[in-house]
Amino acid sequence: MRIIDLRSDTMTQPTDAMRRAMAEAEVGDDVFGEDPTVNQLEELAAERLGKEAALYVSSGTMGNLVSQLKHCGRGDEIILGSHAHTFFFEQGGSAAVGSIHPRTVPNQPDGKLALEDIEIAIRGDNVHFPRSRLILLENTHNLCNGCPLEIDYMKAVGEIARRHKLKIHVDGARIFNAAIALGVEPKDLTAEADSVSFCLSKGLAAPVGSMVCGTQDFINQARRARKVLGGGMRQAGVLAAAGIVALNEMVARLAEDHANAKKLALGLAEMPGISINPDDIQTNIVFFEVTREGMVPEEFVQKIDAEGIRMLPVGPQKVRAVTHYHITSADIDQALGVIAKVMSKVK
Ligand SMILES: Cc1ncc(COP(=O)(O)O)c(C=O)c1O
Repeated sequence: MRIIDLRSDTMTQPTDAMRRAMAEAEVGDDVFGEDPTVNQLEELAAERLGKEAALYVSSGTMGNLVSQLKHCGRGDEIILGSHAHTFFFEQGGSAAVGSIHPRTVPNQPDGKLALEDIEIAIRGDNVHFPRSRLILLENTHNLCNGCPLEIDYMKAVGEIARRHKLKIHVDGARIFNAAIALGVEPKDLTAEADSVSFCLSKGLAAPVGSMVCGTQDFINQARRARKVLGGGMRQAGVLAAAGIVALNEMVARLAEDHANAKKLALGLAEMPGISINPDDIQTNIVFFEVTREGMVPEEFVQKIDAEGIRMLPVGPQKVRAVTHYHITSADIDQALGVIAKVMSKVK
């Protein structure tokens, strides 16, 4: 039975072109700055995101952590969304490692932080308060249906940040999905950001790695933070080679993933016992609710798993499905067929 794995776009496997590039990569000791393939990837990433420099890190979590550590000192405060990946799923790393205080404001359903909420959260100069230092945005927003944040919104947050002398970090794990969905250049989405991290290992299908982009000075500091976290890698060019292929060959095709996600959402909207608004789905992440009485997401997921369809239960009612490079339009038909069967059998 072919498994149709919709749990995450992290399930993607390196393409043949990536495997070839990895086998042939020219390498050196990257802690000495001597790995030509890593250097090439870092230049390419910086250029794509419109920043001076970039740093190859092991994961999105590390990219977000080194960025927070470099923007903030002990006791400084970060304003971020209540549903931010960085807040929810990264072990509170900035607090655990950097003594940085998180200040959450509610994520709107489209992944934004309301501008007035940001303004209210910014601390005044008062001996009782931590110092507001950083605004952290997520684009696309994982837990908010993979919603992309548009350029105008970024400009509005940029204006607030400048007025209050705050920095902006964008967790752009899926920034290329955002750019493709909005039909804009990634660098235009990150122009207001002092730093941005993005993942090579999700929809872009590289096996390992994320990039942090920013000014040369910021990246020099981030390189030190990466080293103290144990993230200095040696002949990392074998991995970076796949990242170069990811950036050159895997971005434009993300539109297929978005079309498949929309098709899945439209199909699910027709199913009894499932609730979803297909208009909410703009990129590759599909959240839906199992509303059938007596059926919890875990049970739904187990039943479709038995038929070769994998999805992720999230919370008391929700299920997440993510489309990616290995999911075809025919796979979506297959998944919808299985779900229809499972839901029709449930009393
Ligand atoms: C929005 C977002 N940020 C950061 C990460 C962390 O990436 P990694 O798993 O590479 O640490 C993820 C992973 O799913 C994510 O979805």
